[in-house]
Amino acid sequence: MITKESIKNKFKSIFQEDPIIARSPGRINIIGEHTDYNDGFVLPAAIDKAVYIAVSKRADDLISLYAEDYKGKYEVNLHDIAPTDLHWPNYILGVVDQIQKRGLTIGGFNLYIDGDVPLGAGLSSSAAVECATTLALSELFQLHIERLEIPKIGQLAEHTYAGVKCGIMDQFASTFGKKDQVLKLDCRSLEYEYVPLILEGYTIILLNTNVKHALGDTAYNKRVEQCKQAIGWIKEKYPAVVNMRDVSVAMLDEMVKDKDAEVYTKTRFVVEESERVHQACENLKAGNLVALGQNLLASHHGLSQEYEVSCAESDYLVEFIIQFPEVLGARQMGGGFGGCTINLVKDDFIEELIAQVSPKYAEKFGKELTVISVKTDDGTSIL
Ligand code: GLA
Repeated sequence: MITKESIKNKFKSIFQEDPIIARSPGRINIIGEHTDYNDGFVLPAAIDKAVYIAVSKRADDLISLYAEDYKGKYEVNLHDIAPTDLHWPNYILGVVDQIQKRGLTIGGFNLYIDGDVPLGAGLSSSAAVECATTLALSELFQLHIERLEIPKIGQLAEHTYAGVKCGIMDQFASTFGKKDQVLKLDCRSLEYEYVPLILEGYTIILLNTNVKHALGDTAYNKRVEQCKQAIGWIKEKYPAVVNMRDVSVAMLDEMVKDKDAEVYTKTRFVVEESERVHQACENLKAGNLVALGQNLLASHHGLSQEYEVSCAESDYLVEFIIQFPEVLGARQMGGGFGGCTINLVKDDFIEELIAQVSPKYAEKFGKELTVISVKTDDGTSIL
């Protein structure tokens, strides 16, 4: 288990100093996928799996990084940072770049990173790295970065150093998450509301397909572009429209349908998915878990058939487990193309479900299915 002490000891053994330690959690998302970069709504929560960033000042201008997961070191001069092919340092260097672009002054530093957010599972380990790095550096160099700026810095780091044109959901949930709550976020105004996650007799479990999604892949950015393309066409008649948030299905019917059937199907999904967030949130508040489960299923259908960001493994899992009446809903979670499904399952059926689905999955795909239990937790903090 990772603790403040274990991080501190490890840091000392590498850098011979006492660090400042920031913790930032991964996230789940109940519903609202690919709506964030369209200024729509999302319903995520921070989880009890996190990234830990420990830092100390150096006397020179060197940035010296050590990642526990990769048992790897990376060093670069503060004034020469650029994206690297090594990948993992990019989430940290991207944050450093954003901090410098804001005119804030930092010096050289040592940084150690560890965590227990499974990588490539759609639980936003990268956002957690970005948010923890931002807070750790803010604390170390007394930058007084405001809390609302943490997710913004993280998102831009992802755009520039990881090459993924992501929305703000992951970084926002990682920063502002709260134990026992989900966060209903308006990705345009960044106004948010906490909604208690009360699931009488039911539990959320994650099934990890162990298909590693690579969001940097062009597929994610292509969806972002397709949404922009639709906006371009709609603006020809409706100049007040800024992005998909302002678009109705009627507008898509009028301005997009005849121009490009694929863009039409994809953007209609975005409009409908954002609307589903409101419905799902009301269902959660009312304790109507059956209806909430239906929202999840409708979301998966759209992600798979319309937005086309699912994969054979996720589709199989959703179809297989939904045959059981004890499973109210299931869908692929996160950016897509693998990672985890999020599932709403009756408490006393979980063991039985896993016993049934695991061998079937292994037989069909020759891969292990991993079950991840998560609890909601608090957002980014200094330990
Ligand atoms: C990834 C991105 C988020 C969001 C989701 C899909 O997790 O980082 O911004 O777009 O995919 O909902």
